[in-house]
Amino acid sequence: MDTTILRNRFRQQFGTSGDLYFSPGRINLIGEHTDYNGGFVFPGAVDKGVAIEIYRNGSRKVCLLALDQKEHPYVEFTLDDTSKPEEHWACYVFGVCKELEKHGVALGGFNAAITGDVPAGAGMSSSAALESVFAFALNTMFADSRVDKFELAKIGQATEHNYCGVKCGIMDQFASVFGREGCLIRLDCRSLEYEYFPFNPDGYKLVLINSMVKHSLGNEYNERRESCEKAVALMNREFGGVETLRDANYQMLDTVKGDLSDEDYRRAKYVLDEKERVLAVCAALEKNDYETVGKKMYETHWGLSRDYTVSCPELDFLVETAQECGVTGSRVMGGGFGGCTINLVRDTICEKFVSKAKREYARKFGIVPEIYSVTIGDGSRKLQ
Ligand code: GLA
Repeated sequence: MDTTILRNRFRQQFGTSGDLYFSPGRINLIGEHTDYNGGFVFPGAVDKGVAIEIYRNGSRKVCLLALDQKEHPYVEFTLDDTSKPEEHWACYVFGVCKELEKHGVALGGFNAAITGDVPAGAGMSSSAALESVFAFALNTMFADSRVDKFELAKIGQATEHNYCGVKCGIMDQFASVFGREGCLIRLDCRSLEYEYFPFNPDGYKLVLINSMVKHSLGNEYNERRESCEKAVALMNREFGGVETLRDANYQMLDTVKGDLSDEDYRRAKYVLDEKERVLAVCAALEKNDYETVGKKMYETHWGLSRDYTVSCPELDFLVETAQECGVTGSRVMGGGFGGCTINLVRDTICEKFVSKAKREYARKFGIVPEIYSVTIGDGSRKLQ
């Protein structure tokens, strides 16, 4: 990412220069809405993210300049404030400060300028990138990197829960902090064990298509989580030992079906289905069997659309178009309700698919979707 503008604006605003840090957004191959259910996910960091320049100012004040915010790009708060700033974007930074302090980090005031190239609302975790970059930078500056990377990811997650109203899982912040170039990460969200999987599918590309329908996770996301928790509580009462849907199976779920609404039942069932799909994808990846990977991606999409109900007509249309073009796999990525589809496409048909998707989508919805070809990059870091 070119940081020239960032540097110039920082100097203009604060009259000094500081250190540069970067944290990426993420993709996720498969394993959607499984993280807060104790399941597996398969994310990777991308080469797009959030960059900041930051400098200790020797006071208790935090002065933030967000280059990409049109309204209210400048916000100040103090580390002693107990209520969060009015500007939503600044709540992410405020939350990270508060959560780091809970970890015993003695913060001092700082000036920071922020910019990014992850499209907001595209399901690529621009907010996790923002949390992670501040968690990483402040931990480096004020705690000699004493807080470990798992805790940094959890600090980002706690920020979402406590300051931004989204009861998210750990996937996005984990991927942003732990990303490694060229690798996807298989993460067990129950134990937090993880493994890097070099991902370089010969003859295929990963392409994102942004429906340009802006998603913002909030109530609808939290409601999905509550549905899962209801099913868990019933199964736990019946069978014991069910802490998350990871511990459940179809037979248990069917036993409590009568006590669940149809909606809650279908959501819980989707999570059980997705659990099996992620394992099938792991096995397929070991054999370089990308056709099976792709088939599972489609199954995930239709599960998310019909049972988990987090898709929308625009995303369904993009996936149907992919299916018609013979794309290997396609599905909505991330929390849903808009954002991108992730597509596993054979090199030979990639161009044709992308131009058809653009054309047909524009014709139907009057918007030209943005296309991003995925490069898997490194996680949070200080820039030179
Ligand atoms: C959002 C959340 C993640 C995860 C995904 C769905 O990105 O932040 O924790 O739940 O949705 O897989």
